[in-house]
Amino acid sequence: MVVRRGVLLDHGGEVAQALARLQLTGWEFQPVSSLEAARKLLAAEAPPVGVVVFDGEDAWPARDLEALLARFNVEWIAVLHRELFDSERLVPLLRRNFYDFHSLPLDRERLLVTLGHAYGKAMLGPKPVPHLGAEGAFGMTGRSPRMLQLFRQIEKVITVDAPVLIGGASGTGKELVAHAIHQHSARAKGPFIAMNCGAIPANLIHSELFGYERGAFTGAVQRKFGNIEAANNGVLFLDEIGDLPLDLQASLLRFLQEKTIVRVGGTERLRMNVRVIAATHVDLKRAVAEGRFREDLYYRLNVLHLPVPALRERREDISLLAQAVYAAHEDQRSPQVRGFSAEATLAMEAYDWPGNVRELINRVQQAMIMSENRFISAADLGLPMPEGAAPTTLDEARASVEREMIETRLRKCQNNVSETARQLGISRVTLYRMIDRLKIVL
Ligand SMILES: Nc1ncnc2c1ncn2[C@@H]1O[C@H](COP(=O)(O)OP(=O)(O)OP(=O)(O)O)[C@@H](O)[C@H]1O
Ligand SMILES: [Mg+2]
Repeated sequence: MVVRRGVLLDHGGEVAQALARLQLTGWEFQPVSSLEAARKLLAAEAPPVGVVVFDGEDAWPARDLEALLARFNVEWIAVLHRELFDSERLVPLLRRNFYDFHSLPLDRERLLVTLGHAYGKAMLGPKPVPHLGAEGAFGMTGRSPRMLQLFRQIEKVITVDAPVLIGGASGTGKELVAHAIHQHSARAKGPFIAMNCGAIPANLIHSELFGYERGAFTGAVQRKFGNIEAANNGVLFLDEIGDLPLDLQASLLRFLQEKTIVRVGGTERLRMNVRVIAATHVDLKRAVAEGRFREDLYYRLNVLHLPVPALRERREDISLLAQAVYAAHEDQRSPQVRGFSAEATLAMEAYDWPGNVRELINRVQQAMIMSENRFISAADLGLPMPEGAAPTTLDEARASVEREMIETRLRKCQNNVSETARQLGISRVTLYRMIDRLKIVL
């Protein structure tokens, strides 16, 4: 017979004895009496189910307990004395973190049923949380047709040494693509030097690119290498190339043709071995038509063109990216947060993401830190509820009205359950039941 294992957090050891007496067929519980011991055990073998015994309101330090409960993929069951069912301190904690609870003395049959259900739920596991890039390629997350196409293009681009032009809206991952090309090409061991052409004052860009000799101008107290020289044998990433002033566009074109530079104030012509990767969020073709970008430079850079799709053009990747961001920032999440609600996922998939992946990262990170829910909601992400999530049945509509009224009244009464119940004209027990059913977080 298969023996299912569980962990039992019990200060006094009474419940450990009670469990032994109940002879729960098929179950074996490993008792621990401190959070520290529990942490060690869970880290070593992570049983799917755990039981926590509360012999008083302050049985366990709440924050530490909650951090522990949230950290492992375990379904938790609470065991407590009946009088603690009314504890205003304990009940919200139980609601946030536990699958079910049992009163003492334990009822063997009910306990076996709950354990079985909790075990089944734990076996379903959390949604797989890929690490950033685990579902994708080149350290980029994505499996939509558009991203697969981009990965195929990158595969080709890394085998040759021509300039690359990466296009795409803000926050789509252009810099990440540039890094990927560098890291997977023959130049991986060489430097990757990034320069934002839009962020440097026009009068300084020339010396930033080409460097200068000592005494070239006032303040040039010693020779300085420019970014092209610094990128020798590696990659020079020119971000926002559309912002490069016209005279510098001419200098850059000359460098691309001749592969040599002369430092400002210098005379020596130095041979450089640099691959230029440029990125732009503006339509360079249009800039050419409007006379803001040199046509010859455009064709020189555009030999290999990689368009990075906007996030709304690859909605299949949204949830995947959100999970990846979640996994990458696990350590920062509010302790009770366990993942995304279905409604949040729908809201993310429906939203248009003007700030693309960068915006998604910001919203998810912020929600993980600030959410007070077990499952991040659309509101936590600052996103509107998707249309499909509006109530369609009478039951859903009723639940929605009930939730709204209870939440508003609870807020007004500063979460005082007795007072809220009185004002709503129901009993405290009924209110607790509704709070539970409607998954309202106190
Ligand atoms: N496919 C992806 N998988 C994982 N992370 C991504 C992906 N695309 C972008 N990111 C992340 O999103 C953020 C924004 O990406 P990046 O800086 O490359 O965008 P960008 O196109 O250069 O934006 P901007 O135009 O604003 O400079 C970065 O933190 C990056 O790591
Ligand atoms: Mg960028």
